[in-house]
Amino acid sequence: LFAGETEFLKGVVEMDGMPPGDLLEVCFAGRSNVGKSSLINAVTGRKALARASNTPGRTQEINFFTAADSHYLVDLPGYGYANAPVAIVAKWQRLLKAYLSGRANLRRAFVLVDARHGVKVVDEEIMSLLDRSAVTFQCVLTKIDKPSKADLDKVIEQVRGALAKHPAAFPEIVLTSSEKGHGISELRSIIATLI
Ligand code: GTP
Ligand code: MG
Repeated sequence: LFAGETEFLKGVVEMDGMPPGDLLEVCFAGRSNVGKSSLINAVTGRKALARASNTPGRTQEINFFTAADSHYLVDLPGYGYANAPVAIVAKWQRLLKAYLSGRANLRRAFVLVDARHGVKVVDEEIMSLLDRSAVTFQCVLTKIDKPSKADLDKVIEQVRGALAKHPAAFPEIVLTSSEKGHGISELRSIIATLI
């Protein structure tokens, strides 16, 4: 479905600049550095389509990718700590919130959570925003290559507990590692059923 067919369309810094909602889309949200851009690269089979980096706050625009001319994949700026000036970060956060609460063709938001850290307060805030906006979201654990099996199991329990409080949450959690390729084909299949 994805390989070789995904192209960068545009980076957007204001709601006015959004592409028309003519195609369905899914987006990747999550704290800075959680692995959003890396996951888009893994899912599309393209190494450097979305720019990933070790610096939190790498993605500073809402980046739209057109996949197979049939839908958009959307890479969002991170929330939480970012290595950028406060005023700039505040501007991205406003844009992020406007996007997540006002995009009619958004079929599902993937909320990425680091498998080492679990759901944090800032994740809860985004989940509550998605509840209020009636946007179905699904939690994707990233970097599952990092924790031990025992620690991963604890985090999964914590995430389950957190999701139970959110009516817009899709209950199934996807376990992924962009680095090792875990869960990538599963995520592709999920996206394929949505768009
Ligand atoms: P921002 O755009 O800054 O919000 O970050 P992001 O969420 O897009 O994260 P990005 O994809 O840039 O990845 C952040 C760092 O995590 C990079 O150094 C990646 O190489 C690393 N990373 C991403 N996914 C994985 C993974 O599955 N396993 C491991 N070990 N590292 C990963
Ligand atoms: Mg990024």
